[in-house]
Amino acid sequence: FDGKNVTLWKYKSWLPVKSRVSLNEGGTPLYKLKNLEKGFGVEIYAKNEGANPTGSFKDRGMTVGVSKALELGMDKVICASTGNTSASLAAYAARAGIKAYVLVPSGKIALGKLAQAIIYGARVVPVRGNFDDALRVVVEASAKLGVYMLNSINPFRLEGQKTIALEIYDQLGFVPDNIVLPVGNAGNISAIWKGFKELYEKGITEKLPRMMGIQAEGASPLVRAWKTGEKFKPIEKPETVATAIRIGNPANWPKAWRAVKESGGLFESVSDEEILQAQQLLASKEGLFVEPASAASLAGLIKLLEIGEVDRSESYVLITTGHGLKDPNVVLNRFTLPEPIEPTLDAFKEVIR
Ligand code: F0G
Repeated sequence: FDGKNVTLWKYKSWLPVKSRVSLNEGGTPLYKLKNLEKGFGVEIYAKNEGANPTGSFKDRGMTVGVSKALELGMDKVICASTGNTSASLAAYAARAGIKAYVLVPSGKIALGKLAQAIIYGARVVPVRGNFDDALRVVVEASAKLGVYMLNSINPFRLEGQKTIALEIYDQLGFVPDNIVLPVGNAGNISAIWKGFKELYEKGITEKLPRMMGIQAEGASPLVRAWKTGEKFKPIEKPETVATAIRIGNPANWPKAWRAVKESGGLFESVSDEEILQAQQLLASKEGLFVEPASAASLAGLIKLLEIGEVDRSESYVLITTGHGLKDPNVVLNRFTLPEPIEPTLDAFKEVIR
């Protein structure tokens, strides 16, 4: 049955692995956001990566990365994670029958992601510190303890994730003017840029999109360097409601910088409030429930439209990177339910009066 589903393995000749540990990842929907388009007067699409098997784009990288781990004969894999990478690695390691260790910032990982990593059978290791601290340990462990590292510093992860670009081109039938996406450890923006460049270099497409990287204000080292012209400096204590991108020292920052520079794009930051409002807008206007980090893409586009930084006659594809159900607390902390009613028609009539 597996072969009949449309997955990213449609592009297997573009991927540097022979074997395949798969949960049928990729092949995610691309939506035209008709209601938001009416409101904002620009052409907007969303690539819904929450539709992947574990609910985020990380599955694209993990199917390739874990396949490679098996090819290399590794039986232990490891990652640091703000949540989604750990959920994804745990699932693919389970599928491959190997052991996964996932290091996560203690108390700062969304509930859904934690539940996933646990039930898929990974060894979940909470770390007293943030993502950047956990990644430092993981890099050392992979060098010294013979465990295979599957953070996005691993190039095979990015190979899988570049298929987002290939799918967008297939689905639209043209290359959009702009790709707008959240930036955390800065792997995905680099991967998607690589995908569009390969399409271009093979002569399949005749243009390249601009890459627009959006960070949360409290975790925006790339935006700071971009806007001030100062040398890149990590943020010591990153903080944001979008825990997925609560990262102060993005490991792939040089690659992301090049992607933005070469493509003529930009980096921008958005506040937590702007992120939460964009999350609500995507859900209530388009039926698309994404986690806060993913909503940073729409928040970024709205900000850029407001300050007149972008061209209204162009097309924008938002990468909505993770499913909203990953982080239910963010919603439930913001909204309260009314008091219960008596189970009678009269009581309900009062409600809709
Ligand atoms: N959106 C979501 C939902 C994420 O989980 C991440 C990264 C990003 C965006 C940013 O992507 O790191 O490639 O720039 N999450 C990682 C994790 C760090 O551990 O799950 P990036």
